[in-house]
Amino acid sequence: MTRILLIVGGGIAAYKAAELIRLLKTRGHAVRCVMTESAHHFVTPMTLAALSEDKVYTTLWDLKDEAEMGHIQLSRQADLIVVAPATADLMARMVAGLANDLATTLLLATDKPVLVAPAMNVRMWSHAATVRNVAQLRADGVTVMQPDEGMMACGEYGPGRLPEPPAIVAAIDAMLAPTPPKRLAGRHVLVTAGPTHEPIDPVRYIANRSSGKQGFAIAAALARLGARVTLVAGPVTLPTPPAVDRIDVETAREMAAAVDHALPADAAVMVAAVADWHVESVPQKIKKGEATPTLMLAENPDILATLARSPHRPRLLIGFAAETERVIEHAVAKRVRKTADWIVANDVSGDVMGGADNSVHLITEAGVESWERLPKDAVATRLAERIADALEAAP
Ligand code: CTP
Repeated sequence: MTRILLIVGGGIAAYKAAELIRLLKTRGHAVRCVMTESAHHFVTPMTLAALSEDKVYTTLWDLKDEAEMGHIQLSRQADLIVVAPATADLMARMVAGLANDLATTLLLATDKPVLVAPAMNVRMWSHAATVRNVAQLRADGVTVMQPDEGMMACGEYGPGRLPEPPAIVAAIDAMLAPTPPKRLAGRHVLVTAGPTHEPIDPVRYIANRSSGKQGFAIAAALARLGARVTLVAGPVTLPTPPAVDRIDVETAREMAAAVDHALPADAAVMVAAVADWHVESVPQKIKKGEATPTLMLAENPDILATLARSPHRPRLLIGFAAETERVIEHAVAKRVRKTADWIVANDVSGDVMGGADNSVHLITEAGVESWERLPKDAVATRLAERIADALEAAP
């Protein structure tokens, strides 16, 4: 049984803590709740006590509890601390190392992993101070979830909504999962991710909707299995996963050169949405008012196909196929055309690009395997395990 200490911050999303407790209890976890002073305005201790079947802790100055169980034990007796919802204020106090209430005192005293699920107004989330605080918390080893995007209680739209309770549970499961054996130790795996930008002139460019999330998740999963990972990333704003060597590029031609430079590799996973063409760009900004310009496109190198023909071809070469119709049929043909070993095909006609989930088909010589819709992290973990299987089978 896992013991989770849930710190409930003071935001309108505090009511979702009730559902989170219910989900955690049905999975057999023990949940003990701590509320900040302001959380009382949004949810009652009675609700959380009833659902958690435990006393709810609210204040540092409850002497009886200090005698029975000091705040140090309260934080140490847990296996994991979850802060949900985490307000901008609570995160700022965590960053500053303040201990001016029970919640922050526990967070400062703990030696256990901490998961933070933020919820706040979109402007508060994108404020430079919060951006700085999130980066600092992550640098301090705290796992900070990305808030959901959507309509907010205050009527504004954007990122800042508390991740849904099932997503918080998935993040908790990932943190509690035992560290996998380093099956890829001693292997070098190359990953491309993100879009490419193809300049039209010094200020304009052609791009695509790739967010880089799936490729970054794959790089992270491979590194967790002990691989040395080189991640060649197009222009994205994602943080570099732990223990991954990242090379930032802008254009397809730069990506091709970086891939070539990173060889040899035991496996390569080409997740990037590489632009098929570049523009024969001009050195000066094109001015409006003159004749409407015509873009002259020239084909980009096909990085995957080039790698497949290279004398340094990795033993396992995996391509991605983003399709909007006849997904499997196109992807099966793409595997043969590009002489890749595997193609991971996904249907991008919905909200996959930029979204958190992906439903993919793994196409190999042996046939087609359709995976259920999964968070991108879970797709990445499964693919990394399959890569380890393949490299172990044919060393
Ligand atoms: N790819 C690449 N270099 C390119 C284009 C694509 O390495 N210039 C790789 C992608 O990283 C991906 C795979 O090829 O792994 C499939 O990309 P996709 O754009 O779907 O294939 P295309 O060759 O562009 O085929 P089509 O336009 O017919 O879908």
